[in-house]
Amino acid sequence: MNSIRRQLFPWLKVALSQGLVLALVLYLRPYLPVAGPLLLVAQGLAAALLGRLLGLSAFWIPIQILLPLAVAFNAVVPAWAYLAAFAVCALIYWNSASEQVPLYLTNRKTWRSLSGIVADHGAKSFVDLGSGMGGVVTFLARTHPKLRVRGVETAPLVYLASKLRLRFQNLPNAEFVYRNIWDENLSAHDVVYCFLSPVPMPKMFAKAKAEMRPGTLFVSNSFAVPDQPPYAMVDVNDGRKTRLYIYRM
Ligand SMILES: C[S@@+](CC[C@H](N)C(=O)[O-])C[C@H]1O[C@@H](n2cnc3c(N)ncnc32)[C@H](O)[C@@H]1O
Repeated sequence: MNSIRRQLFPWLKVALSQGLVLALVLYLRPYLPVAGPLLLVAQGLAAALLGRLLGLSAFWIPIQILLPLAVAFNAVVPAWAYLAAFAVCALIYWNSASEQVPLYLTNRKTWRSLSGIVADHGAKSFVDLGSGMGGVVTFLARTHPKLRVRGVETAPLVYLASKLRLRFQNLPNAEFVYRNIWDENLSAHDVVYCFLSPVPMPKMFAKAKAEMRPGTLFVSNSFAVPDQPPYAMVDVNDGRKTRLYIYRM
């Protein structure tokens, strides 16, 4: 139920922001200095801004901007564009069908909580299993220059985006590898972090228990390991009420 709510809520916020902006545009239309596609782009931008104020992540900005254009030009969009859009989605949401792990990103407040966990634990190495766009990895590498930070990812476009992100930053202690999370050797890390879904948690924890060294930490964002009391929990003071479940090996 919680996960359905989490999936549905952003779309409701998109509908609300687009609807409010559309109503405003229709009301103010005679006075607006722009029209046609430019107005649609402005409308999308305004909805994107409103969406951010409503708590939507930056991920939704391009979707919000393109939505009015897509609706208005629906009839003239060629069929191949839909195939291309499907291909792009598949390259981003690569692991949604096979692993039942979609792409959603750890937010900045949670980055800071993870930074606190790393510091308190005196960790020397950290891995993000399914590192997405690389936000956690680059943030921790920047804030802990002595920490070795690694991201493991297989969604092709998402992996490329994280590699690109790293290229523009001077972070010799960070790396991204194109690797299945099930093939990563967890014994190499002091803190193993994942933000996956309820589905792989039992299997992932069994892997962690088999491979991780005593005293090291397994941290799961939002998804507890069933029937396994955590060593500690951290409640992040953010909009989505993120909870980090910490298991000590
Ligand atoms: C919910 S996202 C979290 C992204 C990132 N860790 C963050 O918190 O910002 C989960 C990520 O795990 C990746 N993933 C899921 N299953 C995977 C697998 N078997 N191997 C590698 N990556 C995987 C997905 O592609 C997705 O990018």
